[in-house]
Amino acid sequence: MEKIKKAVQILKHSRFTTAFTGAGISVESGIPPFRGKDGIWNKYDPEALDISYFTENPEHSWMIIKELFYDYYNSAKPNPAHLALARMEREGLLGRVITQNIDNLHQEAGSRMVFEFHGNLTKLKCLSCFKKYNVPEISLDHLPPTCRECGGILKPDFVFFGESIPQDALMASYEAAGLSDVFLIIGTTGEVMPANQIPPLAKQNGAIIVEINPEPSHYTNMVTDLYLQGKASEIMKEIEKGLFPASLDNDQYRID
Ligand code: APR
Repeated sequence: MEKIKKAVQILKHSRFTTAFTGAGISVESGIPPFRGKDGIWNKYDPEALDISYFTENPEHSWMIIKELFYDYYNSAKPNPAHLALARMEREGLLGRVITQNIDNLHQEAGSRMVFEFHGNLTKLKCLSCFKKYNVPEISLDHLPPTCRECGGILKPDFVFFGESIPQDALMASYEAAGLSDVFLIIGTTGEVMPANQIPPLAKQNGAIIVEINPEPSHYTNMVTDLYLQGKASEIMKEIEKGLFPASLDNDQYRID
């Protein structure tokens, strides 16, 4: 509890806070992480998300991608951690979210300043003419899906291993690392380059690093100043109560 109070004080007095999120923030929305005991890389070979493998084996790659990301499409909903970050943004206590996730849950929770280091699964892009489609426009009954304009193969518009990071996300991340006085790291192992360089850069620039994770990560003993061990939604609910106590009182005495 003491640590939660400390985190609330740090966040309340911060001029500019950035949330840096990974797969762990979406676990309680029903989306499995990539690593750890229920990690998807324990069951699938990451090569399905390697761009050279995809271009040579689009059908096999798509079979795995569909099972991993599109069979549950639209079923996962934002959890209290996503919602708390969106509320912090509305109340002026969060400058931006830098996420490694492609699940669109920050946006669905209402966050507007979201920068996606690895893109987003809601669009497909033609590898030949680069036309983009919203996922619901395209049937995934036959794989690989093809472009209506040119017949080219469609690829999810998120970053595959071997592809470059979207410029806007990269610039926004380096800028955040330079101007944030608090970095709130939620649910990431810190294993994947170059995303994992951002928190150490923020630390180097003087940011206070607050980390939420049920397990220690690469950051915990390296850059983290305040480690809150636990699940994202449980801890963020407590932090939200500390940041916005008044509304909680109203709720407590609200007569329905
Ligand atoms: N709340 C918070 N954190 C959690 C929870 C939870 N309920 N459950 C698990 N975690 C933590 C795990 O302890 C782990 O540190 O979330 C982290 C998940 O780690 P990864 O699966 O490696 O996810 P991430 O760090 O985001 O991976 C980075 O790797 O495969 C690529 O592109 C993929 O964006 C992904 C990148």
